[in-house]
Parts: sequence; C-alpha cells; structure tokens
Amino acid sequence: MQQKQSILITGSTSGIGFATAAALLQKGHRVYLNGRSTETVESALKSIKNQHPKADVDAVVCDFSKEIDLTKFPPHLDVLINNVGIYTSQSFYDTSDQDWLKQFEVNCLSGVRLSRHYLKPMLKANFGRILFISSECAYLAPEDLISYSATKAAIHALSRGLSQLTRGSGVTVNTIVPGSTLTEGAESFIAAKAKAQQEQAEKVARNFIRTERPNSLIERFARTEEVANLIAFYASSESSAVNGSVIFCEGGSTNATY
Ligand SMILES: NC(=O)c1ccc[n+]([C@@H]2O[C@H](COP(=O)([O-])OP(=O)(O)OC[C@H]3O[C@@H](n4cnc5c(N)ncnc54)[C@H](OP(=O)(O)O)[C@@H]3O)[C@@H](O)[C@H]2O)c1
Repeated sequence: MQQKQSILITGSTSGIGFATAAALLQKGHRVYLNGRSTETVESALKSIKNQHPKADVDAVVCDFSKEIDLTKFPPHLDVLINNVGIYTSQSFYDTSDQDWLKQFEVNCLSGVRLSRHYLKPMLKANFGRILFISSECAYLAPEDLISYSATKAAIHALSRGLSQLTRGSGVTVNTIVPGSTLTEGAESFIAAKAKAQQEQAEKVARNFIRTERPNSLIERFARTEEVANLIAFYASSESSAVNGSVIFCEGGSTNATY
C-alpha cells in the first residue's frame, strides 16, 4: 500500500474527474473534489460516500472562470490534478474574445494559479505530482473547437515548462491526453443526436468515432474508468521516473507517435 496522499482534482463533481476521485479514494487517499456550486459538490460527496462509506473525501467550491480565493483550498497537497476543462463548440468566426478568455481562464489559468501556489511546497517536501488533463483536440483542433484546442495545446507548454522547475527533485509534472470519453455530458450529446436522427445511441456513438475520429484504433468512446485508472497511476508514487511527459489515452485518435 502506498503512503496516503492528499489530492485535489479540479472539475470533479462528474465526468473523468469524478471517476478519478473514485479510483484514488479506493486506494485510500484523501481526495478534495471541486465544482462551481455547493449543490453539485454536496451531491457528488453524497454519491461518493454511498459508494465508499469510509472515503476520506472533502470538497472545495470554486468557479475557475472567476477570481479564485486560494485560502479556500487545502493548505497541503501531494497531488494536484488540473482536470477542469470547458469548451464551446462553434465557428471560429462566432467565438468572441469573451469565449476565448473564459476558456483560457478555466482550462489554463486554473492550473497556472494552483501550480504557482502548490509547486514550491511540493519541491520543499521533495515529493509531488502535478498532472494536466489535455485532450486529443490539442492535436486534432477540430474546426468547431479551435479555441478549446488552443487552450489544450497551451497546457502542454505549461506542463513541460513546470517540469523543468522540478529538476533533480521527487516532484513530477506530466500531461495526460484523453480522447473521446463517455462522460455524462457525452452521453447526453449522443442521446440528443440519437433522438434527432431516430437512431440507436450506440450507432450514433460508433458513427461519431468513425467520422470525427477516423484514426481511432479502439473505434469507440473510452469509459471514464479507463481514463481515471491511467490518471491514478501517474498520480501515484509508482510513476516516479516519468517527468515532463505527454501520456496518451486517446485510443490512437491523434495519430501521434510522440
Ligand atoms: N469527455 C471527453 O470526451 C474528453 C476528451 C478529452 C479531454 N477531456 C478533458 O478531460 C477533462 C474532464 O472532462 P470531462 O468531460 O470529464 O468534463 P465534464 O464532464 O464536462 O466536467 C464537468 C466538471 O467540471 C466542473 N466545472 C465546469 N466548469 C467549471 C468551472 N468554471 N470551475 C470549476 N469547475 C467547473 C463541473 O463542476 P460543477 O458542474 O459541479 O460546477 C464538473 O465537476 C477536461 O479537461 C476535458 O477537456 C475530456
């Protein structure tokens, strides 16, 4: 059994973040969830406690699109998982400065602000993990997701830059690249399309991958648990020789070899 770690996962009341919280709690760690409202955070805490009655779990309510109050965050962290990510699916020409700024604020600056706060103490303790959750879109840059894709590409440089500040220490900073993943959001997107097209949801999901992610080798959406288990490994002390890296779990969709 690994040493118990104190872990914050941003944007974790649902989706990949929530599944990652469940995976890490199962390993006996202390996990802080995060969402924008007390209601969603309390409902996520309740759901976790139903699944894992002994879970050492708490939460921080914080909307990363606004100024953040760092005093609300845990004083000490071993692992910071910068997972929160938002997107607007729209034409480049219709994407306003405000849309661009909001996505950069939530997707990128959240990680900048939290890393600026937690990296130095991690270096002092000579242990820490910082993970940035990117996306296949950093490589694919679909035409309706140009602003989102740009925020994800920026995360790669941020993560690589921060890893250079950890030289010779027990702290690592890495980027994880998920592909299309069956979160609650993706499920409702598919369900709405299936209803509009009078098709079965499974067929709509398969068609989406075939047409929009033609390089996918798994030819399906990933399950949140598949992504969460990978994140949990890179959050652990066992991943100690991996630093400054980009780790793919996009099922081959980016066609990237490095
Ligand atoms: N799902 C995919 O197919 C996919 C693919 C590639 C990469 N990714 C990346 O993986 C990460 C997780 O994605 P996901 O699909 O699991 O996310 P999601 O389901 O859309 O995320 C929902 C979570 O984000 C929180 N959230 C949203 N805006 C927030 C804000 N301004 N401040 C704080 N929390 C906020 C929500 O909290 P409340 O609702 O409680 O406020 C909720 O916990 C993201 O970075 C995403 O870009 C996802």
